[in-house]
Amino acid sequence: MEECEKNIAFFDSGIGGMNVLRDALKALPRENYIYFADTDNVPYGIKSHDEVKGFIGKAVEYLYGINIKLLVVACNTATSLAIKHLREKYSFPIIGMEPAVKPAIENSSHKRVLVAATTLTLKEEKLENLLNEIDINGIADKIALDGLVRFAEDRNFTGNEPAVYLKEKFRNIDFKNYDAVVLGCTHFNYYEKMIKDIIGIDDVKIIDGNEGTVKRLKSILVENDLLNKNGSGKITYVNSCRVISSEKEISNYNSLLTV
Ligand code: DGL
Repeated sequence: MEECEKNIAFFDSGIGGMNVLRDALKALPRENYIYFADTDNVPYGIKSHDEVKGFIGKAVEYLYGINIKLLVVACNTATSLAIKHLREKYSFPIIGMEPAVKPAIENSSHKRVLVAATTLTLKEEKLENLLNEIDINGIADKIALDGLVRFAEDRNFTGNEPAVYLKEKFRNIDFKNYDAVVLGCTHFNYYEKMIKDIIGIDDVKIIDGNEGTVKRLKSILVENDLLNKNGSGKITYVNSCRVISSEKEISNYNSLLTV
């Protein structure tokens, strides 16, 4: 098999990366994909650095073993913990995701920016370094919304529970002082509309990192001569190193491509 005909792997702790894959498929329909969800170990964001690093190591070793051509770490938490180490260890291109703080801060009109992510992402040095570099005027605030990961895993995208949870989390925040909310966890993207509605101020933008990631994916494929012209957009789903063959589970995943 030609190198360019191999699969692109997307990796997340659970279903968060599915909305990144959805956007990638639109831009790159002639590729074939593996979607790896670490369903045995989700959620990552409330566990310890070392424990999660172990989960990521095992997942990526599996993906290396099935001969992928490129890896998208469609998980902000895994990116902040392990991207450097993974790039040192593996020779295939690796694209990570980090909270889109840069565009949010650069486009802000003197107001504040709220960075929403998992507890672990907010604790990691990677985000700290990014903010030190970009947030010169100290306009970024952080909020952990780990509860949304569980709601998303339960496919509770529009119910009352996530709305109640978000209202409680936003209780003391005056969004009139904010320009943007950065969604720094791929699971949170399923709640973009809910967050917008709860905030209720049109001028507050909700920014995720998907567009930048897909652009980067496309340009890395072109630069490395890895674009596949013969693929069909086929997706193979893997739950924690187990390839999924049940039609029901496959269609459950596929349904997320239209959410
Ligand atoms: N979807 C992941 C992220 O982007 C991780 C969520 C979790 O497992 O806590 O951060």
